[in-house]
Amino acid sequence: MSFETVFITGATGYIGGEALYQLLNNKEGRKFNITALVRNEAKSEKLLKATNHQVSTVIGTLDDTELFKEQILKNDVIINTADVDNVPHAQVLHDTLIKIDRPTILIHTSGTSVIGDDLSADKNATTKIYSDVKDIDEINKLPEKQPHRPVDKLVLDIEEHNPKVKTVIISPSTIFGLSDGYDKIISIQIPMLINACLKRGKAFSVYNGNYIWSHVHIKDLGDLYYLLLSKLITGDKSLPTGKKGYYFGAYILKDEGSVTTRASAIEHTWAEVSKVVAQELKKRNLIESDEVSHADPEDVVKYTSFDFGPYLWGTNARSRADNAYAIGWKPKYSDPNSFWGSIGPDVDHIVKSG
Ligand SMILES: NC(=O)c1ccc[n+]([C@@H]2O[C@H](COP(=O)([O-])OP(=O)(O)OC[C@H]3O[C@@H](n4cnc5c(N)ncnc54)[C@H](OP(=O)(O)O)[C@@H]3O)[C@@H](O)[C@H]2O)c1
Repeated sequence: MSFETVFITGATGYIGGEALYQLLNNKEGRKFNITALVRNEAKSEKLLKATNHQVSTVIGTLDDTELFKEQILKNDVIINTADVDNVPHAQVLHDTLIKIDRPTILIHTSGTSVIGDDLSADKNATTKIYSDVKDIDEINKLPEKQPHRPVDKLVLDIEEHNPKVKTVIISPSTIFGLSDGYDKIISIQIPMLINACLKRGKAFSVYNGNYIWSHVHIKDLGDLYYLLLSKLITGDKSLPTGKKGYYFGAYILKDEGSVTTRASAIEHTWAEVSKVVAQELKKRNLIESDEVSHADPEDVVKYTSFDFGPYLWGTNARSRADNAYAIGWKPKYSDPNSFWGSIGPDVDHIVKSG
């Protein structure tokens, strides 16, 4: 089985753009016949031009059930990066793949909000850290109310019903850095915080901001998409897939030692991020002070117009990518300078793109 045909969703986005770039520029010299789902003619033209016509496009959305089914049936590999919370779309994916009668690969995207805790004014940093190896049973039993969980559950169920389909989920933590992609090349979490601080005229944290998340550079994440694809294509029997095929996009520490409520070198607190955002904005005379004030969730929704906004910076989600390291992933940007040094360029990109 050669697995030459690929259907990708979200290719004009930040994650999907990087995943596509890695496919088109892979070091193994593999050639794929790639079809990308795009939402309109303008996006199609943009993607075709930016990739030098190395991909084909189909115009539609995740909710175009027939078109989506047709593409699943036509292609050997499905890479899903468009919307991690679209349950009807995930149901179609599930129902089509459990019945498919030929080897198919699915690489699906989630996010570590799935392990996030609740918002609370009285809360601080947690010592709870999730490993995608040691805590995989707990991850498979996370409650439905957790963000992304309803879709994760459907995807995790596929392979058990149909062993001809091999599935993996990549669940990124905070993604940072500019992507090599073709349209939107900036992340969501920190850029949205920068925009909200600009709109508010001063920097803020959700409550005290003392909540810890892990992070991953977009180029390291793109490497992981390709590494998994490459191993799935060669049929590597040792590769965890299905219910064990959950891969956090995060880093690990060589000697973790005892866990404290302080962020380690591969993590950040949102209070620290807000401080650096404040300094970078002040340095460019975009706000008057580099002080960070506390905001409550209602206030945050006002400045983001996004109900989920407070959860992006008001929760703990500490993850360790044990699965990815075990299969030979070698990230290049896990040093703290890469993360903290990415906030200034994010501000510049936002200012430049208006
Ligand atoms: N960035 C992060 O830090 C991060 C971390 C973990 C999880 N995630 C999740 O991963 C997903 C992708 O994130 P991203 O940062 O790559 O977002 P993004 O840059 O906004 O890209 C989203 C992509 O999906 C496409 N899309 C969205 N809804 C669609 C629909 N209904 N039908 C067809 N295409 C659709 C967009 O098309 P257009 O170009 O037409 O808009 C775009 O190509 C999101 O659900 C996000 O919540 C992101």
